[in-house]
Amino acid sequence: MPKLYDELAPWWPLMSAPDEYEEEAAFFLATLTAASERPLRTVLELGSGGGNNASHLKRHFEMVLVEPSAGMRAVSAALNPECQHVDGDMRTVRLGRQFDAVFVHDAVCYMTTEADLRQAIETAFVHCAPGGAAVLAPDAIRETFQPSTEHGGHDNATHGLRWVEWTWDPDPSDSTYFVDYAYLLRTPDRTVRVEHDRHVEGLFSRADWLRLLSDAGFTAHAVPFEHSEVEAGSLELFVGRRRN
Ligand SMILES: C[S@@+](CC[C@H](N)C(=O)[O-])C[C@H]1O[C@@H](n2cnc3c(N)ncnc32)[C@H](O)[C@@H]1O
Repeated sequence: MPKLYDELAPWWPLMSAPDEYEEEAAFFLATLTAASERPLRTVLELGSGGGNNASHLKRHFEMVLVEPSAGMRAVSAALNPECQHVDGDMRTVRLGRQFDAVFVHDAVCYMTTEADLRQAIETAFVHCAPGGAAVLAPDAIRETFQPSTEHGGHDNATHGLRWVEWTWDPDPSDSTYFVDYAYLLRTPDRTVRVEHDRHVEGLFSRADWLRLLSDAGFTAHAVPFEHSEVEAGSLELFVGRRRN
């Protein structure tokens, strides 16, 4: 578990603020709606983290949020008290019910082997009603992966956080890449401490994604991600409709 989702989880809202997700949540809503043959009344999110996407999507349907980190669930529960939060791993969780759609945002990046990704897609399938949709949104795929550096952060009344994110792939022949973060964490006594946090994330080809979705029982296709701050053609989502 990266530090960000463990001992640093209370800092998440200063890393990534809900307002920043409005545009992408609108795109995910349109994609989920277009992909499903069913009206969307219930949606399951796997790996919902701090609940930033859910804070926008929840206006449109009932949402159940699955997240394995207690600290991240606590952040999301404060933001989304009307959503049900469940402790679970996207590879193995079984809620014993089906939803009109299943959404997996960037948490799917923590599937670092094909076996892990297959299990997560199987979880999406068993929780998706026939004719319903699954939308999975990895941060990168093999064909368009680019090393990059980004920075950001926020302040609240008492604390501040600034981050640098360095995305790189030490071994293009395997199914992972690294995202190294440096966090500068400012506390009310004016001290600033630095933490390094390496996230190991999964990297699969478009064909791998589509094969795994089809094997699970979805009719699947890739959709280009459209966002004002993302270069056209650099990211894509995977969309499946459950066949039966
Ligand atoms: C970047 S956060 C997600 C933020 C979320 N997209 C949002 O809108 O706020 C990534 C999350 O993936 C979760 N995660 C990592 N491995 C997971 C797994 N095996 N199953 C489910 N969630 C997982 C982490 O605990 C973390 O909370």
